[in-house]
Amino acid sequence: MADEPLDEARLRRLIAVGRSLVQQLDLEALLAQIVAVAREVTGARYAAIGVLDEARAELERFLTRGIDEATRDLIGDPPRGHGILGVLIRDPRPVRLADLGDDPRSYGFPPHHPPMHSFLGVPIVVRGRAWGNLYLTDKEGGEFAAADEEAAVILADWAAVAIDNAGRFERQRLRDTMAAAEQERRRWARELHDETLQGLGGLQVLLSSALRRSSEPSQVEGAVRAAVEEIGTEIEKLRTLITELRPAALDELGLEPALESLAGRVAAVEGIVVTSEVVLADGERRRLPPDLETAVYRLVQEALTNAVKHARAERVDVRVTERDGCVELTVRDDGAGFDVGAPRAGFGLLGMEERVALAGGTLAVQSRPGAGTTIRATLSGATPRP
Ligand SMILES: Nc1ncnc2c1ncn2[C@@H]1O[C@H](COP(=O)(O)OP(=O)(O)OP(=O)(O)O)[C@@H](O)[C@H]1O
Ligand SMILES: [Mg+2]
Repeated sequence: MADEPLDEARLRRLIAVGRSLVQQLDLEALLAQIVAVAREVTGARYAAIGVLDEARAELERFLTRGIDEATRDLIGDPPRGHGILGVLIRDPRPVRLADLGDDPRSYGFPPHHPPMHSFLGVPIVVRGRAWGNLYLTDKEGGEFAAADEEAAVILADWAAVAIDNAGRFERQRLRDTMAAAEQERRRWARELHDETLQGLGGLQVLLSSALRRSSEPSQVEGAVRAAVEEIGTEIEKLRTLITELRPAALDELGLEPALESLAGRVAAVEGIVVTSEVVLADGERRRLPPDLETAVYRLVQEALTNAVKHARAERVDVRVTERDGCVELTVRDDGAGFDVGAPRAGFGLLGMEERVALAGGTLAVQSRPGAGTTIRATLSGATPRP
């Protein structure tokens, strides 16, 4: 029995599992899935995945399946990779043992650890580098067979591809986020350059030429008056810029007044109708946690910018409601609409998705060419994702 080949049912299962693993882009969910599947396809009572540290000397993480939480708490610190676990770290090749206790390399178990006998360990090698190990113990009915080892090796290969994939996805997301931040800075730089710097340059010219003609008091007076007026305009522009960067109203007065004033500004500048309605669960409190207020404000800001820039909307309705600890936000415009599935070049919607994900919420964009756009976000207000 020990050398029976991998049966067809298990092979099929492994193929199906591989498909679903490589589609999982969230590393935490992926690791949990790998441990669960490892246990299932080998018939092990306990399964674990050990993730190596940067130096590949110790395990930096250890995820288990089969051990309940209370037992895990009793055992205490997760293993770092001594004994048999360390054998795989130093020499990443499959190890299969009938009984851990009989192996001289075995280190023994800490107090409260359930007894474990048969053992199967296989390395997970990602792009040629040892990444971690799959550990399986206590095969149902005795020892692990060659076919179990084969199944675990196939699974470890799938796992490696899926882990690499999830890592690349995460890195790409980070790059996108950084690119979005950079684009934002570029926009401020351009705005400061085109508006404030140009304005100050004009003032400099005006006042210098007045200085040169300082013998003609009437001209000097005229220049100073013009300069004072110009300074007034510049102050207004800078005030608008600063408000866009971080509206004082958001910190001092809260979301409702901040959104009202944002809606008012957009309406005035664009000559369209923008309504804003904020209904919080506790009408007295009128404040949400600061992170949540910022998130909602930024979402509305980008949605309004899009409605003005792309939709040529005539009316935009902003609505924020709080219910059961959740904040729901809708921004609806009556503009051109667009194909939601089409590839996008900008970072606005991406940034919105990122912001909503960080707040542990969901974002839905509903639109069709010719039918306006509705952005709906639900933010839990609970602790954000670690
Ligand atoms: N309210 C809307 N109405 C019509 N089209 C929209 C709307 N919102 C977004 N779009 C379309 O979706 C695309 C992507 O929007 P997104 O905000 O991600 O990027 P952007 O506005 O083009 O650039 P950025 O936001 O980075 O300045 C837009 O280019 C536009 O074609
Ligand atoms: Mg945009």
